Amino acid sequence: MRFNSKCQLLVLAGLLLIAIGPSLQTRLRNENNVKTATFLSPNFVLEPGSVINKFYYNIDFPKGHIAIKSFDAEVVDESRNPVPLHAIYLHHWLVARYYQRKVFGVSKYNGHLGFNQSDFIMVRNSGICEMDLPQYFGLGSETRKTVTYVPDPYGIEVGNPVEVPPGYDERWFLNVHAIDTRGSKDMLGCTECRCDLYNVTKDEYNRDIEPNYIGGLRCCYDETRCRTREGFQGPKRSLYLKYTVKYVNWHAFIVPVKIYMLDVTDTWKKQESTGLVSRHHCQIEYEVESCSAAVANNGCIHTKKTSVTFPNGGDVIYAVAHQHPGGVGSTLLGEDGRVICSSHPIYGEGKQPGNEAGFIVGMSTCYPRPGSVKISEGETLTLLSNYSSDQRHTGVMGLFYILLAESSRKSSSILHSGDDMGDIVILHNAVWAIAGFGIAALVAATITYQRQREREEVCEWLLL
Ligand SMILES: *[C@@H]1O[C@H](CO)[C@@H](O)[C@H](O)[C@H]1NC(C)=O
Ligand SMILES: *[C@@H]1O[C@H](CO)[C@@H](O)[C@H](O)[C@H]1NC(C)=O
Ligand SMILES: *[C@@H]1O[C@H](CO)[C@@H](O)[C@H](O)[C@H]1NC(C)=O
Repeated sequence: MRFNSKCQLLVLAGLLLIAIGPSLQTRLRNENNVKTATFLSPNFVLEPGSVINKFYYNIDFPKGHIAIKSFDAEVVDESRNPVPLHAIYLHHWLVARYYQRKVFGVSKYNGHLGFNQSDFIMVRNSGICEMDLPQYFGLGSETRKTVTYVPDPYGIEVGNPVEVPPGYDERWFLNVHAIDTRGSKDMLGCTECRCDLYNVTKDEYNRDIEPNYIGGLRCCYDETRCRTREGFQGPKRSLYLKYTVKYVNWHAFIVPVKIYMLDVTDTWKKQESTGLVSRHHCQIEYEVESCSAAVANNGCIHTKKTSVTFPNGGDVIYAVAHQHPGGVGSTLLGEDGRVICSSHPIYGEGKQPGNEAGFIVGMSTCYPRPGSVKISEGETLTLLSNYSSDQRHTGVMGLFYILLAESSRKSSSILHSGDDMGDIVILHNAVWAIAGFGIAALVAATITYQRQREREEVCEWLLL
């Protein structure tokens, strides 16, 4: 399964169900200009063994031209209490940005137009998987103890009105995949989506699952069910993904960072002489075979490795890996072998939400001193993902999420350039004043004709 094909299908489904309920809870706080907004996803219901894999479009999100400083999430119940992973396993959540065509001048999709590619434009992160992993934010069970804060003066720029194609609105969608493991016969097997436990032979698109596919997302799609203990009963639970966005209003002193995601399953190959361009094909999941029983107690380690050439250069501001249970660490290396970041799982030790024994409840992060860890344009990076292979693991992942302050910020924006502060402030003020008169798009486009050029490129690309 790939997120892209899934997304396309789910876009269709989503458009039919587009009426996204307003969040039940929104809170705004302001600390040192950093605003905090907390939202709830639409409600979802789970019972022992059941699975949801939902896509919610047009979710609540801070409005305006902002720099995101962090994005955190967790599963909560009706009383807003955190729900532990040993009851509800949060397989993953991800949040992606898109442009939605305004319909008949109304920005809410009416749901009757069907799927039309040109009505929905994904705004992908900066790479480097081509079709897969388009998200801006996303984690799994480790969400409670993984720090996501983007240090000053950096921020993830979103909501810039001059970047939105005319006739479109910027929006966000959320994908939540959760498994109710209460009463499960095999907790790890359920969380690793082992096909035998889900009693499925076809995937959600009704394609046969090959016998050598033992586990992974193709076996635990929406509304599948993992085997529970005979006679186990448990009440339905009504749940939400609570997500908290910290952000500041955009201003000229913020340095934008770009989001990159590497996947250890990327099949990209360096082409030495043929001149052919290899494609990034990220499989997302892979399998870890058990090492032989004889050595199992000595702590076998399975290492998966890939090398990819990085398209842009810049300073690494933040990096973190994503692994599943069994993971023992992941390292990103530069071409010269230097460590760009090593990220290790934090396993829980108790019962409380955020510290559940046997689960990865956090990943360690890297915050190199800005300027101290650089990636050069065209540099070949190596990603290693280690898992314990004392037992077999299915559907594991090895991603690396990087925030990069690009060194070649090109013409990317008048608003960002640091050497002409006066103009910037005037431009800002002009844009906002004009916005008040409702013709911001027109005038901003005229003033920032460089932006316009960039936007045209974007539009061409979008219409491909
Ligand atoms: C999709 O949208 C484009 C542009 O609005 C329109 O020309 C085309 O007919 C639409 N296609 C379908 C199948 O609705
Ligand atoms: C597994 O699925 C088959 C048909 O798809 C059904 O007949 C059988 O009862 C299921 N077994 C369990 C344990 O749910
Ligand atoms: C991963 O395992 C390899 C050996 O296979 C080891 O050299 C490397 O240090 C390990 N890295 C991490 C982050 O555990």
